[in-house]
This record gives sequence, C-alpha cells and structure tokens, in this order.
Amino acid sequence: MIGMTDIATLIRSLPKAELHVHLEGCITPEQLVTIGQRNDVNSFESVETARAAYNVSTLGEFLGIFARASEVLLYADDFTEVASAYFDTAAANGVRHVELMLDLQAHTTRGVAVDTVFDGLARAQNYAFNNGLSTSLIVNFMRERDEEEALQLLASLESYRSQIIAVGIDSAENGHLPRKFTKLFQEARKMGLRLVAHAGFEGPPADIEEAIDILQVDRVDHGNRVYEKPELARRLGQLGTAVTVCPRAEVELGVVASLADHPIRRMLADGMRPSLHSDDPAWFGSIVENYIVLAQEIALTRSEVFQLVRNSFITSFLSTPALGLYLAELDAVERSLLSKK
Ligand code: ADE
Ligand code: ZN
Repeated sequence: MIGMTDIATLIRSLPKAELHVHLEGCITPEQLVTIGQRNDVNSFESVETARAAYNVSTLGEFLGIFARASEVLLYADDFTEVASAYFDTAAANGVRHVELMLDLQAHTTRGVAVDTVFDGLARAQNYAFNNGLSTSLIVNFMRERDEEEALQLLASLESYRSQIIAVGIDSAENGHLPRKFTKLFQEARKMGLRLVAHAGFEGPPADIEEAIDILQVDRVDHGNRVYEKPELARRLGQLGTAVTVCPRAEVELGVVASLADHPIRRMLADGMRPSLHSDDPAWFGSIVENYIVLAQEIALTRSEVFQLVRNSFITSFLSTPALGLYLAELDAVERSLLSKK
C-alpha cells in the first residue's frame, strides 16, 4: 500500500467520469444568496444562514433545502452560471466526462419553461466542451410525483434530445415504488435514451430489484442497501451491475453508518461495477473529496482506485471510441506507476 498523500495526489490526477451529480446539488450557499437576491426569490438573507440550513442529516431534510435552493433558478443565465461553475471545478479535479442529473420538475412545477432550462444548460455544456470536458444530461423524474406528468414532460424533450443521454428517478423513495414509472421507462427506451434509477438508498433492496427487473436500468444510483438481501447482492455481482456510489451523502444522510462501514470494497469484490461520485457537491464535497475521504478511511489500494475510476468510464454512456481512449490513458498511467515501483 502507498502513503495517503500519494493516494490523494493519484486520485486528483487520474482522468475520471462523474456519473452521479445533481445540477441543483451544485448550488452553493453563496450562489443561493446571490442568485436569490438578483431574482428577488429570497430564501436566505445571508450566506451564513444559508450555510447553516445546509446542515442536514436525513434525506427528507436534504430534499427540503434542495427544493429551496432550486427555487432561485429562474432564467437561462442562472442555469448556465451554476452548471459552468460546477464544470470548472470538475475539470480542475481531473474529471473528463460528466453525466449531469437534472430535476426538471423542480423547475417546471414553478413555471420555469423547459426551453429556459435546456438553453441555459446548452451554453454551459458548450463552455465545458471548449475546456475539454464532455457532458450530457440525465433528466431525473421525482418519485413522489405522478407518472402522467413525467410522461408529458418526456414527450416535450424531443427537441433537446441531443443534450440528453438518459432518464432516471430520484427524490423521496419511501412509499414510491420504481414500478410506478414502468411506462415512462419504456417510452424513454423507445426514444433511445439510457436508463438509471436512485434505488436502495432510503428505500429497501426490493426497490433495486424493481429498478433492474421492471425498469431495466443500465445503472443503479446508490444501491447501498443491497447487502440487506445477500441473494440480491450475489445476483448484482453476477450481472456486473453498475452502481454509482456517493460515500459522503450516504454517510451524512444516515444510509451507511460510517465511512468505515461503507460497502464499496464488498461491491468490488462481489463483481458489481461501482464508481464514486459527489451526488450534491455543495453539500457533500467534490468527487475528489469523496474519493479521498473514503480512501483514507478504508485504506483503498492503488489498484482499487484504478478499478473504481475505470468503472466510471466503463459504466458511463460514452461512445465506444471515446471510452477506448480513456481506458488506454488509464492503462498507460497504471503501467508507468507499476514500472516506478
Ligand atoms: N436529489 C439529489 N440528491 C438526491 C439523492 N441522493 N437521493 C434522492 N434525490 C436526490
Ligand atoms: Zn443522487
């Protein structure tokens, strides 16, 4: 095993894909106050009060403040500003490809037009592309809202198809089964979109089964509670299921007891294909911070770090040629490190 400073440097320098990060989860307390004041939607008087409200310990509390933060985004420029700032930080952290989640209903239900959201994000995506970062969007639908609304919104996304790579579900899990969105996922598949689902975070392992068997997702977001059902964990291992794991969110929202108890090493050993992500960087730190805290706590080896980073590309929705380039780059870095041993 190598020293912790070395592992942190390695993590920062390796090319990575970020597959689980919510646009609205990128709104910092500073942006919340500045954009809120500019738009006259004011949630919070000062950065300090906003920062204090960011202290949460359950998914329910988190979703409350996440909704309040989302409310300050009104105009295309607001979406551009938040996404571009996140893309800058991601690129500085070695991220090369982002599949950015968007809670579209957090905006449309307040009267913000779909055009406004996608126009603002298109500008940020172009800006990122010019800085060497490839990006696409995952439109997440809120589990507590009904499928009919989601179907209507999905139909309105045809003109933004080139910006979107996938559809998912997120928000409140308890009492809102994945199967509620069976038709939505069938329609999205017909549109050629890929499929993801937050499952097994707050809700039970049965939600992961529904996401896989009924919604037929390409990736499970979080999936921590899989180990409450050993036969399901074995099955996901055999399937090589892609799992986007967000260690700090999972610990801070009480889904995993502590970083030391995080199931990541078990997921890797059992044949799943986990990778690490930030979820909501304004609350839970950047992707690199998530890697580093977990690596330090459970002494991830260099080869485990490479495996996680490799998984982030393998389980991304990148084209085959782009994927090949990133994997070749990672292989070259790994070989050069081995030769220096
Ligand atoms: N929205 C943003 N982050 C989320 C999470 N971790 N679970 C559900 N909904 C979310
Ligand atoms: Zn999430």
